Amino acid sequence: MINKIPQHLISELLEKTDIINFISSRISVKKKGKNYYALCPFHQEKTPSFIVNQKKQFYYCFGCNAHGNVIDFLMNYEHLNFVESIETLSILHKYNILYYKTNPTNTNNAYEKRNKLFSLMKTITDIYKQNITTNKNNEAYIYLINRGLNPQIINEFSIGFAPKEWNYISKNITINKTNQQELIDSGILIENNQGYTYDRFRNRIIFPIKDNFGRISGFGARNLNNNKPKYINSPETSIFHKSKQLYGFYEMKKKYSRPNKLLIVEGYIDVITLVQFNIFYAVASLGTSITSEHIQLLFRTTNNIIYCYDGDQSGTKAAWRTLKISLPYITDGKSIKFVFLPHNEDPDTIIRQEGKIAFENRINQATDLSIFFFKKLLHNIDLSSIEDRSYLSAKAIPLINLIPGETMRIYLKQILGNKLGIPDINQLETLFFKYKKIKENKNITPIKQTKMRILIALLIQNPHLVAVIPSIKILKKVQVKGLTLFIQLVETCIKHKTLNTGQILELYRNTHELTILVKLATWDHMITDNQVKNVFLDILTNIYNSILETRHNFLINKERKIGLNNNEKYELWSINKKLAKT
Ligand code: CTP
Ligand code: MN
Repeated sequence: MINKIPQHLISELLEKTDIINFISSRISVKKKGKNYYALCPFHQEKTPSFIVNQKKQFYYCFGCNAHGNVIDFLMNYEHLNFVESIETLSILHKYNILYYKTNPTNTNNAYEKRNKLFSLMKTITDIYKQNITTNKNNEAYIYLINRGLNPQIINEFSIGFAPKEWNYISKNITINKTNQQELIDSGILIENNQGYTYDRFRNRIIFPIKDNFGRISGFGARNLNNNKPKYINSPETSIFHKSKQLYGFYEMKKKYSRPNKLLIVEGYIDVITLVQFNIFYAVASLGTSITSEHIQLLFRTTNNIIYCYDGDQSGTKAAWRTLKISLPYITDGKSIKFVFLPHNEDPDTIIRQEGKIAFENRINQATDLSIFFFKKLLHNIDLSSIEDRSYLSAKAIPLINLIPGETMRIYLKQILGNKLGIPDINQLETLFFKYKKIKENKNITPIKQTKMRILIALLIQNPHLVAVIPSIKILKKVQVKGLTLFIQLVETCIKHKTLNTGQILELYRNTHELTILVKLATWDHMITDNQVKNVFLDILTNIYNSILETRHNFLINKERKIGLNNNEKYELWSINKKLAKT
């Protein structure tokens, strides 16, 4: 079993990360009363129903029911898994998670495993890199220089060379059972059916790929000759996610924390050459097509994405595919544009021919979404034909309706209306309506008020109330609905005295109780802050008393029927005394 990251470390990281600071550095939030409001990043909306509560260190959305603490926000907003989210927080606070071993002899911690892979990638990078830096007569180095890359840029991007050998890696590091498996896991070595291993990358230029924290997570590798395939890349591993990562992203972020535009190119060499020409805002996908996760990452970073494609047929096809998957992320204020380069050119070749200024002119004159959209859709369409017009609307309307940003949507509708000869936008709207999928609002069922629910809600929302609870011993003797959960929560709060709501809920991650606790943690029970303590104590007393009464009745009954022993007599006497007090 995987040894988990210690809970106290997780609590500590949550303690250090103020949810308001954290979320407001990513989306725009406004303070209103006790809470901070924002347009929910997890569903489309026009009025804010996303609430961040500082005291609870918790967010929730009344529209789509998204909720959680900082870790959940990272997982959902940045599409990280749990371990990656913890890693992100630990990097933010300069924690070395390795110091936090639950069991010092156990090296099976999910984080440690990843960490070992990262350091292995670094070692391998250095081995490949040495071939280039120490031997300038090396054919790879000569190739790169001949292509116009300068030595600084080769060094900056840690470009390396994997010689034409099947076992170069094993000659350069001592292989034991553990690191052999790691080398296989990270895609450096390939294991054949007979159990023999050999190098994946041979006779190839190596482009190390950094993740968003600058750690090397994978490699792209180019052939030196014209054999196919021209590129091979590391396979998908636990640290290398092609659909989420972008080449050059880390380097770009070092220059701009919030670039006003990003250029998306196709190749590693394109990114590198552009940097050599002092264009620092280009990134590339990792041998795969752009994914919706890439687009979300790009739009979290900038408002303006410019996609760069070859102007030929396959480039247009790729651009159209990219356009379609980008539509759902175009909110107001966000834009996508397209640069189409002359056939058979790419940014690397064109900037070398034209220079920086001419290249940037191309970027500044990029084709707007609306232009490319209709150019593509109107291809082979005869607007004087009714059939063609209805074909056009059937194609265009569902696509336009994918766009959440109202401004862009209305604008495209107007253009479409003009083309279709239906200038009356209202008339067009009815057409749109026909196509529009009506999304059902998630029905959030209201919580039925019971004493026990209010009690639990008050405690999870105000964990410090645990201090006013006299004793839970008596509660443990009886069976009332919800009581077990309450007792469990009380014990949790006692054990972790200083935790806030978000931290307590973290302790319940992956448990059955989480759903109900979240519901109660976000429940607006209308009890004002200054009444909270009294209401809590009232309900608690009430519950204690009803327990006492039940026990009282039981004992009286027993006394009548069969009589009581001495202990029971004493108990009845003390219950009487207690009940008389209230
Ligand atoms: N690619 C790939 N596998 C291939 C070909 C291409 O993964 N067989 C990916 C690589 O990420 C490459 C990008 O697609 O960087 C663009 O490919 P291409 O335009 O063919 O290569 P260039 O980047 O132009 O490389 P070069 O200039 O060295 O020919
Ligand atoms: Mn190229």
